[in-house]
Amino acid sequence: MREALSAIERSFREALTAAGRDSAAVEAVRLRFLGRKGELTALVKQLGGLSPAERPAAGASINSLKAEIGEALDRAAATAAEAGRRAALAGDRVDVTLPGRRPWTGSLHPVTQTLREMERIFRELGFTVESGPEVEDDFHNFEALNLPPGHPAREATDTFYLAGSDLLLRTHTSPVQIRTMQASPPPIRMICTGRVYRRDLDATHLPMFHQIEALVVDEGITLADLRGTLAAVWKRFFGDTVEMRLRPGYFPFVEPGAEYDISCQVCGGTGCRACKGTGWLELGGAGMVHPAVFEAVGIDPERYTGFAFGLGIDRIAMMRFAADDIRLLVENDVRFLRQFPI
Ligand code: FA5
Repeated sequence: MREALSAIERSFREALTAAGRDSAAVEAVRLRFLGRKGELTALVKQLGGLSPAERPAAGASINSLKAEIGEALDRAAATAAEAGRRAALAGDRVDVTLPGRRPWTGSLHPVTQTLREMERIFRELGFTVESGPEVEDDFHNFEALNLPPGHPAREATDTFYLAGSDLLLRTHTSPVQIRTMQASPPPIRMICTGRVYRRDLDATHLPMFHQIEALVVDEGITLADLRGTLAAVWKRFFGDTVEMRLRPGYFPFVEPGAEYDISCQVCGGTGCRACKGTGWLELGGAGMVHPAVFEAVGIDPERYTGFAFGLGIDRIAMMRFAADDIRLLVENDVRFLRQFPI
């Protein structure tokens, strides 16, 4: 019996050393020696085979080894638990010297940035900023602009009408010209920015987009003032390298009328999807205010002349941010939007 006990004690010490500071391994050692089917428990079962004289001493020796093993295991378990805690803490340590992670802040939409920049440029040039309703009547959107009912040019813009009324979603910002001239006499030097609506959708057309309208009315205003103002605006906005061209164009509310383009800022003029391979992007229409428009708002066309132009802001935003599809501006994909922080 004594030899069996010494053998168990030796193999216990070896097993405990091998378990080291691993809690699970220490528990496995406990099970191996003190468990119900453990090595020491098996020895207790052999006590019955001893003579009554030998039994008390053998029992006492087993119990004392059992207590010794139990204590050794408790100490090892405590040490292993402490080592585990330290390892977890070391893994969780925060290095306060690392640079912080920058929080992502929202930013203005590219169209809003463009609108504000355009307004700033026009204000610098002495223009006032006016506004008008997005739900318009036929008179301001068409009739006063020399587009009487049945005029074929009405078909150039496919209009959203409000069911059951003669109201419509304005198709351009030109009705604000009419409202401004009705509200105040010349001299007038105004712009208006805002949303406009048409039944359109492709790589360069949206059903809801933004325009800027400019109107200047005074004595002695000429086509040269129009050209000079457009050139000044684009140079301020895109820089000196931008090229601009005016082409004859027809709008019933101006005479003579023009369409104007700028050199494509996406491809630099070599041709791409945004400019449909032409190297130019049409920005808007312009011209000298038609006498019929002055008459509709009660301004004397013999005394006053004026110029007006309108342009698409979303197209300018495309140019500015080199986006080759206008729909990117309304899809709200943050991977696109976060490229233009302000
Ligand atoms: C007009 O809307 C005229 N009111 C402009 C004008 C004002 C002419 C004053 C003369 C005097 P137009 O239909 O061409 O013109 O539109 C002007 C610009 O808006 C276009 O050149 C284009 O840049 C932009 N645009 C037109 N339709 C869309 C659309 N669906 N999506 C995005 N931009 C558009």
